[in-house]
Amino acid sequence: MPTLKELPRYTRAQLALRNGQDKDQVWIAYQGRIYDVTNSRLWFTGKHYGHWAGQDLTDELKDAPHTESVFKRFMHIADLAD
Ligand code: HEM
Repeated sequence: MPTLKELPRYTRAQLALRNGQDKDQVWIAYQGRIYDVTNSRLWFTGKHYGHWAGQDLTDELKDAPHTESVFKRFMHIADLAD
């Protein structure tokens, strides 16, 4: 059986660069997991209905008209280092 590789851990500073403005990737953190939403047209440029990518948006999901099920469509690429 192949061993599952651990996901990388990125700091908030590394995450902040993936805000849709400074680098090509667009990442969001939710409940300690970092998701890659680069391919979402709804996160294009990093802004999503007043919310910015490149940060931990766990506490902001309550403002959304949807649940966390929206993350199912995206890859959990890393974990947030704290
Ligand atoms: C006022 C706040 C927000 C509004 C009005 C909003 C609205 C929407 C709408 C209309 C969609 C597409 C329909 C759907 O998939 O249900 C969507 C998708 C999504 N939202 Fe939000 N949202 C808000 C906040 C947030 C927050 C805070 C997060 C992250 C914690 C988030 C993450 C996502 C993701 C990952 C998708 C999927 C994008 C895709 O499939 O391309 N949203 N949102």
